[in-house]
Amino acid sequence: MIVTEVLIFFIVIFVAKHFWVHRRFYYLAHKIPQSSFDYSLRGIYQILTADGKKLFHIANEAFNGNEVCTKAWIGPYLFVGVVKPEDVKKVLNSKDCLDKPFVIKFANILKGSLFGDLNYWHSHRKLLNPYFGAKNLLNIIPIFNAKVKILMENFKKLEGKGDFNVFYSMTALTLETILKVMDYDVDIQNQKSEVKNAFIENLEKFLEIITIRIFQPWLHLNCIFNCTKMSRQQDKVLTDSGVVFTKDVINNAKNLLEQEDNNNEKSKSFIQALVNPKYNFSDEEIHDEISTVMLAAQDTSAIASSTALMLLGMHKDVQQKVVDELHEIFGNTLDAPYLDFEKISELHYLEMVINETMRLVPVVPYILRINSKDIEISEGYILPANTFITVPILRIHRSKKIWGEDADHFRPERFDKENFEKIPSYAYIPFAKGPRMCIGWRYAMLLMKIQLANILLRYEVDSDMKLEDVNFQLHITMNSAQGYNISIKERMVD
Ligand code: HEM
Ligand SMILES: *[C@@H]1O[C@H](CO)[C@@H](O)[C@H](O)[C@H]1NC(C)=O
Ligand SMILES: *[C@@H]1O[C@H](CO)[C@@H](O)[C@H](O)[C@H]1NC(C)=O
Ligand SMILES: *[C@@H]1O[C@H](CO)[C@@H](O)[C@H](O)[C@H]1NC(C)=O
Ligand SMILES: *[C@@H]1O[C@H](CO)[C@@H](O)[C@H](O)[C@H]1NC(C)=O
Repeated sequence: MIVTEVLIFFIVIFVAKHFWVHRRFYYLAHKIPQSSFDYSLRGIYQILTADGKKLFHIANEAFNGNEVCTKAWIGPYLFVGVVKPEDVKKVLNSKDCLDKPFVIKFANILKGSLFGDLNYWHSHRKLLNPYFGAKNLLNIIPIFNAKVKILMENFKKLEGKGDFNVFYSMTALTLETILKVMDYDVDIQNQKSEVKNAFIENLEKFLEIITIRIFQPWLHLNCIFNCTKMSRQQDKVLTDSGVVFTKDVINNAKNLLEQEDNNNEKSKSFIQALVNPKYNFSDEEIHDEISTVMLAAQDTSAIASSTALMLLGMHKDVQQKVVDELHEIFGNTLDAPYLDFEKISELHYLEMVINETMRLVPVVPYILRINSKDIEISEGYILPANTFITVPILRIHRSKKIWGEDADHFRPERFDKENFEKIPSYAYIPFAKGPRMCIGWRYAMLLMKIQLANILLRYEVDSDMKLEDVNFQLHITMNSAQGYNISIKERMVD
């Protein structure tokens, strides 16, 4: 008896002390409007049993509501969605909001990387930035062209064969491309589909596990997570998936470095900087950085280009306009020529289509930051230090107030210069913005344009899917649980 009472006494003291020490945090948090997030037993049950599909809906609910900001408690963590473009701008550019919670810690493999600690982030980002700049990308455009040609060869086998899920082709392409950019040659696009599909499903599983952990605070504790089935799945997935390439990529880069010392021909890839002894990166850091870039590069671009093809298959009028532009630039041909930077820059309508695709279906629908100091946003709301600030890109991109009544429709013309000028900056942020903006945004845009130009010149794309019927799932990224079914047939040209 006594023992229990003493125990309860200490727990009460402990909890009271916690709230007292953090009274300002709770006071400020209290003032932030509550979302319609469901805290009943039913709601908790939903989260307990959630998979990527349910989490997509739960997240949408959690940050819908107030026009300025909305809070959702997930366990002891305060998530606040910030909706107004001017507040998003403030958050994404504040030096007190550069850090990211969670994802980092869960993806145990990525400690010493751009997704890791802020100290790592600063120095790594500074080193990598030039490699993703416009000038260096000129060296990568030939790789993009070559890899897309392999895709086009494989598409010949799919022509006229009915529906297929184009996501598998796209992921194989993006993975093979990023590996080649890291000087590592491997044939993925021509692998048997079982090998490709298993790899891609593993990657998706890994991303789903990270997402589920974000919503289930008890799984943040490694000792609990380690006892779950998910943890064993994660181990398996990590062993079986792309991470297997990482070691080969590093060894290959180190060999190249030695050879270069002999014949002085410098590789232009960021991986050469990472393995160069003069930068003192530990093996673990190199490993983490490469896994990070691979993870960030392939799934995202593959989803974006698959979504674009699906939407173009649903909207044949838009597809025709893209083709008209292509014919104007390249003539009435089925085969795209080599696309250099100048040619790619001429594909203006295609760029509007890609932009509209990522507005309507932002590949990364939520981004998270954590603030080291209090930060004040519109209407006097203050986000206390250590808030998990969430930017609900999906909600902002679909806001009727910003984009008009047809915000849920696919209409690339809204990116016409005179229309887009009226949109507030930071209302369109598929790659985020500010110092932690996607490092690969130019890379992704170039690759997508080369892909889509090649495909659309040769093939007429059809899709029977309807956007309203697509079941999206949250795997950090937002992707279609039913895949991206399209069919292709050779285009008629005169
Ligand atoms: C359509 C394709 C892509 C989309 C929509 C996309 C989107 C994003 C977004 C929204 C972020 C910010 C995440 C946050 O703030 O929490 C980000 C970060 C990042 N992205 Fe991308 N991305 C794409 C392609 C790529 C590619 C091709 C690469 C590499 C080649 C890449 C590498 C990265 C890296 C390394 C970061 C972390 C940057 C940092 O923390 O400093 N991404 N991406
Ligand atoms: C996609 O195509 C495959 C193969 O034809 C088919 O089995 C599947 O049901 C289709 N999925 C959707 C959502 O239409
Ligand atoms: C959980 O497992 C990971 C790897 O499987 C290991 O590194 C970690 O030490 C384990 N943590 C605990 C608390 O058991
Ligand atoms: C690398 O490490 C060596 C020895 O630990 C140190 O002298 C040198 O300044 C470091 N270089 C960089 C670029 O940090
Ligand atoms: C497409 O979006 C990017 C931002 O991601 C913007 O810089 C560019 O101007 C847009 N292009 C068009 C044609 O609207």
